[in-house]
Amino acid sequence: MAPAKHSLLILLCFAITIPSYFIPVSSQNKPVFACDVSNNRDLRSLKFCDQSFDVKTRVADLVSRLTLQEKIGWMSSTSKGITRLGIPEYQWWSEALHGVARSPGTQFSSLVPGATSFPQTILAAATFNDPLFEAIGKVVSTEARAMYNVGLTGLTFWAPNVNIFRDPRWGRGQETPGEDPSLSSRYAAAYVKGLQQRDDGDINRLKVAACCKHYTAYDLDFWKGIERYSFNAVVTRQDLDDTFQPPFKSCVLDGNVASVMCSYNQVNGKPTCGDPDLLNGVIRGQWNLNGYIVSDCDSLEKMFSSQHYTKTPEETAALAVNSGMDLNCNHFISSNALAAVNRGLLNETAINRAISNNFATMMRLGFFDGEPSKQLYGNLGPKDLCTEANQELAREVAQQGIVLLKNSENSLPLSPTAIKTLAVIGPNAKATETMIGNYAGTPCRYTSPWEGLMRSVPTIYDPGCINVLCKTAQIEGAKRIAASQDAVVLVMGSDQSIERETMDRVDITLPGQQQLLVSEVAKVSKGPVILVIMSGGGMDVQFAKDDPKITSILWVGFPGEAGGAAISDIIFGYHSPSGRLPMTWYPQSYTKQVEMTNMNMRADPKTGYPGRTYRFYKGPTVFPFGHGLTYSEFSHNLVDAPKLVYVPLEEGHVCLSTKCKSIDALEETCKNLAFDIHLSVKNVGKMRGSHTVLLFSSPPQVHNSPQKQLLGFEKLHLMPEEEGMVRFNIDVCKQLSLVDENGHRKIALGQHLLHVASLTHFLNVGI
Ligand SMILES: *[C@@H]1O[C@H](CO)[C@@H](O)[C@H](O)[C@H]1NC(C)=O
Repeated sequence: MAPAKHSLLILLCFAITIPSYFIPVSSQNKPVFACDVSNNRDLRSLKFCDQSFDVKTRVADLVSRLTLQEKIGWMSSTSKGITRLGIPEYQWWSEALHGVARSPGTQFSSLVPGATSFPQTILAAATFNDPLFEAIGKVVSTEARAMYNVGLTGLTFWAPNVNIFRDPRWGRGQETPGEDPSLSSRYAAAYVKGLQQRDDGDINRLKVAACCKHYTAYDLDFWKGIERYSFNAVVTRQDLDDTFQPPFKSCVLDGNVASVMCSYNQVNGKPTCGDPDLLNGVIRGQWNLNGYIVSDCDSLEKMFSSQHYTKTPEETAALAVNSGMDLNCNHFISSNALAAVNRGLLNETAINRAISNNFATMMRLGFFDGEPSKQLYGNLGPKDLCTEANQELAREVAQQGIVLLKNSENSLPLSPTAIKTLAVIGPNAKATETMIGNYAGTPCRYTSPWEGLMRSVPTIYDPGCINVLCKTAQIEGAKRIAASQDAVVLVMGSDQSIERETMDRVDITLPGQQQLLVSEVAKVSKGPVILVIMSGGGMDVQFAKDDPKITSILWVGFPGEAGGAAISDIIFGYHSPSGRLPMTWYPQSYTKQVEMTNMNMRADPKTGYPGRTYRFYKGPTVFPFGHGLTYSEFSHNLVDAPKLVYVPLEEGHVCLSTKCKSIDALEETCKNLAFDIHLSVKNVGKMRGSHTVLLFSSPPQVHNSPQKQLLGFEKLHLMPEEEGMVRFNIDVCKQLSLVDENGHRKIALGQHLLHVASLTHFLNVGI
């Protein structure tokens, strides 16, 4: 989305705290919907209002009744009312990245002062728990429906953000499920299901409509003067198909998402919203999207005015619609589509296609079914927001996501009885808004880290720096309290002033003098020193890793409204941590070595380019992808796994007579080509807790393949001495395959090394 520029509505979307005078005093109490037959009996005879017909028939009927101007009115995010047919104006733009969020279509009021604010996506991803991803989506959509029923939100939400967290500096990395395409794919499908799936199992209808964004290869906002609006992402065919596209593909094919948003940037010289191959070709043609394609807000305007890709506004509008875009966020289409038609650049057939996709989505949402109170979810209301259970889930996600990065001599958990006094230091120690990150609403309430810790033991607080920028640390005061307490918790890191939409980082160290403060405080502390890093992206905290006085390090993402409670739960051992890093933590030197604009995932030995993410980067890390400790100990045992898998080939296949390094993953080859891996996992430590099992494979080195890739993950909860079983079903073509230089999916022949923690197993793939 674009930052505030055009209207008050857009302003609302970006202000984190909304001054109260922006909120209408008495908010509207009725939801918007069409076909209100109780108010207007004439509507009864209209086929598009008649639920006994299928969606396609109803949409065709509606489209056939509209004038060209009325049609164009339904191609923009602020769709125009058609009073003569009982259709109200509708605002498409609502947000729900990790809770119902303030946006042009969504507001809070005295009736609904808040909604449950879950941890920012990057921390939810760190749970590696897909039932949980879906559970979050389900709570968000229930709260959304409840708000819709009292006229405070629409039904179309532009979430999740499933771009790959390609570079540690990206300001919006916090919004994503991390750097791994398979984790992101599973997050996308699960979160979308949670938002969209109805409890009555009717798959033709939607609870709310989700949207996977920003399609595609979008992961630079503003870095050293380079802007997302005009950035041309130069992406190889191979990287596109095995890194950037998979989350979108899974979102459409596995999640059945109702919408995809095209991004601002260009991919290989073409703006994504004006690329018929990417939209018509892939999203519609290959993936068969059942829904609408929406442009990012002002994408078309930027295509014309920043990128100079098109010569006139009319040409721009025509290009986007003809490429497959159905809905335009903001006003570009409503201002230019008619002129485009008059100039013969755009025809009514294309317009009909676009609005049919838009109307079909609204029909699946029940918008054309009359009075919402008579429909499923019609009885939800303010009482269904911020329930104890919903807020408890927000706390649980944070508990499961928080990553224990270092814990020397098992100094954590702290004993709430042995520790009599605690120093709580740092600019994020009393964080509230910082905890909910961006794309947020008003939370039900906040529990700051300090508040959470204070519930267990008496604390003394000192901020150490006036804010996270920490230009000058106030070291003496912090040292004084640190020296006198039994233990020290330092809550450091970033906030939206360091990393956010429209602002990427240049450095990935702790901001300002935070490092100095941490080191100085650690020197004088007599007990354990726990460094808590609150941030979206990774931080180079090598100094803390190496400092024996800093006994533990926790990464807590932006942990949501209950973040402080979850941090305290972990520190005092009420919950054993089980989160794993969903992205590589690079050293600061990486930022000197790598231009953020270089999209290449693979290392290039010729230029010294080190590559990106755990799949390709071989250089030093501060903490690797998948890292995360627990308070217990878990042993793994391989129970059953094949040593050999044969890929059947038809007679006369060229690879039967000549030696091939890989074969095409074609549909007929792939049928039933799967195997199981059984593991037993035992809690051999002293504490109950969850354990995250990550199964990786290192394929044979052909086609510049990844050095390692995630095949599967599973989370289990075990009591001390308890043993659990994990079964991974591996689809050879989907999970074990790789993408070659031309974007074709291949099965590499030869030895694949499978690994879970220190356990390894060789699997031979033969023909
Ligand atoms: C309308 O425009 C589309 C896209 O340019 C084109 O494929 C189609 O043939 C046109 N249809 C008519 C009826 O002119």
